[in-house]
Amino acid sequence: MKNNMKILDYTNYYEAVEILKSGGLVAIPTETVYGLAANIYDEKAISNIFVAKGRPSDNPLIVHISNINMIQGLVAKITYQARALADKFWPGPLTIILPKTDKINSIVSGGLDTVAIRIPKHKMALNIIDKLGIPLAAPSANRSGSPSPTSAKHVYNDLNGRIDAVVDGGVCEYGVESTVISFAGDIPIILRPGAVTYEMIRETIGDVQIDKSVYSKLEIGQKAISPGMKYKHYSPECKVVIVDADAQDYIEYVNNLLGEDIYAFCYEEDIPFLKIPYISYGSKNNLLEQSRNLFDRLRYLDKINAKIVYVHCPKKTGIGLALYNRLLRSAGFEVINIEK
Ligand code: TXA
Ligand code: MG
Repeated sequence: MKNNMKILDYTNYYEAVEILKSGGLVAIPTETVYGLAANIYDEKAISNIFVAKGRPSDNPLIVHISNINMIQGLVAKITYQARALADKFWPGPLTIILPKTDKINSIVSGGLDTVAIRIPKHKMALNIIDKLGIPLAAPSANRSGSPSPTSAKHVYNDLNGRIDAVVDGGVCEYGVESTVISFAGDIPIILRPGAVTYEMIRETIGDVQIDKSVYSKLEIGQKAISPGMKYKHYSPECKVVIVDADAQDYIEYVNNLLGEDIYAFCYEEDIPFLKIPYISYGSKNNLLEQSRNLFDRLRYLDKINAKIVYVHCPKKTGIGLALYNRLLRSAGFEVINIEK
């Protein structure tokens, strides 16, 4: 067990570079969620990420760089379409998967022949990578299986005693992890939806698919293109059920539920009509607010010992698809559909 982790802020975050240089683990803020960072060329540090998170070793890590030139030597080739997306959306919440070179250790790639790369948009993250001059591997800085951390406090609650430090860069702008798109096959395919939306990608490169695992559980024996998709994810301790219904039907449904410690996980606009306890995750038409709040509110449900929560299903377009995808996983794919 390590000592208490250090909490660094904008006055002393350069210390993070020293810790990373000497093989330590530092959680860093990004515009999506906090990442648990290590030097990609330090095999021991990389292995320690898996230990600290309790992460299965076949689940690959995203490599974070601070400028496009750093991609040289990491990927075997970059397609025209991948380059177009990088030019348009980096720095930003988009992760691009390409064939890897031998420079990428198989511990980082989880044994795959591809590597996931992104340039984050948070100033502190970019400065740390720049100063170190080496790419950082960084999965979300949560214990494996629990919701991703969107504040330094979340990181502290999950990983204190297991990592060296966290850099406190405030609450994350988007609150859901980056969009992951793979260029390993013939057609680009979105493996995880995020704030760079399907609609935005389509507009930039045309043809793009959405992987089936975004909407549905893998069948037994089916292989996940993105290993992370096969694990239970984003789950608070309490049971989560999604209710796919319009406002009136949602309210009627939850108001008829009986039992203790049952909560509505709802829009602000639902609140005046609810007869059961509730936690709101944002206003109906403010998808960015919803995504920024989502993981924080899921964590809060455990704090108040909620037993079952019934989620007012988010919109499934734009960044709403990212919310729906994360909630589906929290819910173990349990959805109640109420026909309109
Ligand atoms: O926003 C984000 O992406 C955050 C911040 C810290 O950058 N990072 C993050 O990392 O969410 P992580 O490890 O929690 O999620 C990465 C996802 C996993 O589902 C993993 O399986 C997938 O990306 N992935 C990584 N490399 C891959 C590869 N080569 N092929 C397919 N999937 C890959
Ligand atoms: Mg994660």
